[in-house]
Amino acid sequence: MSLQQRMSSRLKRAQYRAASTAKVGWYSAFYIMGRHIVGPLTQPGEVPRPTRSGVSSLADMRREFGQLFREELADVEAGLYKMPKEFRERPNPFRLLTDARAYLQEAREVAKRSFRQGGGTEVRDISDDALPTYYRQNFHFQSDGWLSERSADVYDTQVEVLFTGAADAMRRRALALLAAEVQRLIADGRTEADILVADVACGTGRLLSDMVDNFPSLGVTAVDLSEPYLEKARQSAAGARNAAFVNAPAEKLPFADGSLDMLTTVYLFHELPPKVRREAAEEFARVLKPGGLYVHLDSVQYGDTSMDILLETFPRAFHEPYYDSYCAEDLAALFGEVGLHAEGEKLGFLSKASSFRRAS
Ligand SMILES: C[S@@+](CC[C@H](N)C(=O)[O-])C[C@H]1O[C@@H](n2cnc3c(N)ncnc32)[C@H](O)[C@@H]1O
Repeated sequence: MSLQQRMSSRLKRAQYRAASTAKVGWYSAFYIMGRHIVGPLTQPGEVPRPTRSGVSSLADMRREFGQLFREELADVEAGLYKMPKEFRERPNPFRLLTDARAYLQEAREVAKRSFRQGGGTEVRDISDDALPTYYRQNFHFQSDGWLSERSADVYDTQVEVLFTGAADAMRRRALALLAAEVQRLIADGRTEADILVADVACGTGRLLSDMVDNFPSLGVTAVDLSEPYLEKARQSAAGARNAAFVNAPAEKLPFADGSLDMLTTVYLFHELPPKVRREAAEEFARVLKPGGLYVHLDSVQYGDTSMDILLETFPRAFHEPYYDSYCAEDLAALFGEVGLHAEGEKLGFLSKASSFRRAS
């Protein structure tokens, strides 16, 4: 390696470390403020519910947290994907402050709901028959569930605060699996533009924006059931040359049989009732080409790490009706039954990316 290459690689490392540390510091401060607003997980006088898992060690959590960023830096240095845009670009202080203010306001609303008699859960009564009942719940006790601009505006900050600044880095464990597949297809003679991918339940487009930052010509369709979230995704993928946005459910996708090279989902399956997970899995197997790849990213599951206690307590504090059953779900069996066979896996702090290939 030449002196110039060594210098450039040192600079890259320093840039990554400085930017990720600043991000973690910022969101950790809001995590502390958020905890203060929400208060203890049990009300005074309430008996804490028993847990099955032992206490997790703070040292283990710190190690897993640091490992996530070390692995991402190694992937960037190996050329798997670019230095993330969020670490290349100068943060916009006005945006950060506006988002933080909206987060704190929403944290107060969430706190009120979470301690309300009867549990604070709501199912939105709207006239849109296309939206399944399970979907109309106010997951995480958030105002309007998935169904308003206000919810879409505050969502990214809520997730980053929950994971103290690690959310995007965790999502990019899925980008690592996707990037390796895109590179493999290109080496096989395909062009970026003729590789067809669907990012299902794209939300505000966090993975999508990293995907198109790396592969701007990829033929990507972003799918979600929430119009306000899709609108955010549209904005976050502004540089994409070949992107489409579609309002549709994961369990009934608007793609022809065997038409996609890849399909991704991030943090979708823990929001789905077990029966709907099976319907979505069947649908993914239907729309993928033979040999196509499904990249799945969601929470770690019971037994993946020494942090099972967090998986047990999280759904109690935030309205997450299907999370516990997701953490016990056998993913290899769920997807294997529909012909999607387990291939790769990457753990990243509290998330796990797994890939499943449709038999050729
Ligand atoms: C936890 S968010 C994850 C969003 C995004 N993938 C991310 O990384 O933040 C769940 C998203 O799934 C969408 N969603 C939930 N159930 C869905 C379904 N059955 N079909 C399509 N989208 C769904 C919601 O509208 C929401 O945008």
